Amino acid sequence: MISSFYEKIVGTSSTVASSQQKILCVGLTCLDIVQTCKQYPAEDSDQRSVDCRWQRGGNASNTCTVLSQLGSSCEFFGTLSAEEHLSFLQNDMQNYNIDYSHCPMIKSIGCPTSIVILSLRSGSRTILHHNPNLPELTLKNFEQLHLEDYSWIHFEGRNLTEVLSMMQCVENYNNMLNYSQDTNSKETKSSRAPITISVELERPRQELLDLLPYADVAFISKDFAQSRGYDNMSETLKNISEDAKSGATLICAWGDRGAMARTPDNIIVQSPAFPPQKIVDTLGAGDTFNAAVMHFLNKAKLEFIKRRKLKSCEMNSALQKDVEIKRNIKMNYNIESLECSHTEFITQNVLEAAVSFACQVAGAKVGLKGYNKLD
Ligand code: ADP
Ligand code: FRU
Repeated sequence: MISSFYEKIVGTSSTVASSQQKILCVGLTCLDIVQTCKQYPAEDSDQRSVDCRWQRGGNASNTCTVLSQLGSSCEFFGTLSAEEHLSFLQNDMQNYNIDYSHCPMIKSIGCPTSIVILSLRSGSRTILHHNPNLPELTLKNFEQLHLEDYSWIHFEGRNLTEVLSMMQCVENYNNMLNYSQDTNSKETKSSRAPITISVELERPRQELLDLLPYADVAFISKDFAQSRGYDNMSETLKNISEDAKSGATLICAWGDRGAMARTPDNIIVQSPAFPPQKIVDTLGAGDTFNAAVMHFLNKAKLEFIKRRKLKSCEMNSALQKDVEIKRNIKMNYNIESLECSHTEFITQNVLEAAVSFACQVAGAKVGLKGYNKLD
């Protein structure tokens, strides 16, 4: 188990409970070749960097790295190139306890690669990405998964048509659960809560807005917001909410300005950034932020379900004693259903704490090389 700086923030050991339903992150993994320079180089100059390393990258893959260190059981789902860099990526996922067992393997097409330049002077990270057309995941790939294994599914906003149908597939599964609960089917009435669906709109592609109606939680990046002409977080949340599903939670992170979010009830919460003493590596700050929000909210969801079950058990045992009360209460409340709506657990306090926690985790990360102090 990798000893983790996140433990300091979380205050507990980062051991992952394997029996837990997982958080699934759907998207890209790639090879990042990271050069750290004192300052960003001039074009056509010949310079020395202060550090060079290989790192597993890609938004969904980075998010898994952080989720796992925070103590969430997680899985990465994306295509893997069966070429020379495969074992580097797989070994690293194993190191971080990330399940990648359902990833389709593609032969004869190379692995997507990024050259990243970190500037110590400005704190910037410049990414030059190349994808040799590694095929994206298909709905067919997604249908191989057992959805009951997951509590939360996070989608990178890419590969629009297929991701849209994957999100619809999860929505259908959730509707089926609700239907079975309504009709008192013994099999699913047990305790299953709907899967929370989140999406990240990061790349400046306007068509990604089509994914919003299917997301319970949406992460809107600064880059995406700016590409829509918004220059602050409140303007972004206000405008984006027009395209979102009703009752969705919207979250917008903005570098050293911290982050802002909107609850399902339309209340705005905010957190400042927590800058480290020195900015060392801002690559994947957004992926880290997203991981920390999901970790926090998913824990809140599990706690909510546990309490609701307890409450239901207590009521049931009280009801055993009094048939008259039982009849009355049953008429007024559907107490046998343990249904937890998609976002019921995201109250104002919970969201505020989640956003502040995520800014602290992301702030700590930008003060470190990579995602762990031992990297
Ligand atoms: P991205 O990697 O998508 O560009 P951002 O730059 O928006 O992500 O950063 C995400 C989060 O990381 C911010 O909300 C903030 O909490 C933290 N962060 C990023 N840059 C800094 C910084 N310079 N100082 C402190 N925190 C930062
Ligand atoms: C950071 C990152 C890198 C990767 C690039 C892909 O957010 O995921 O790890 O090279 O973005 O766009």
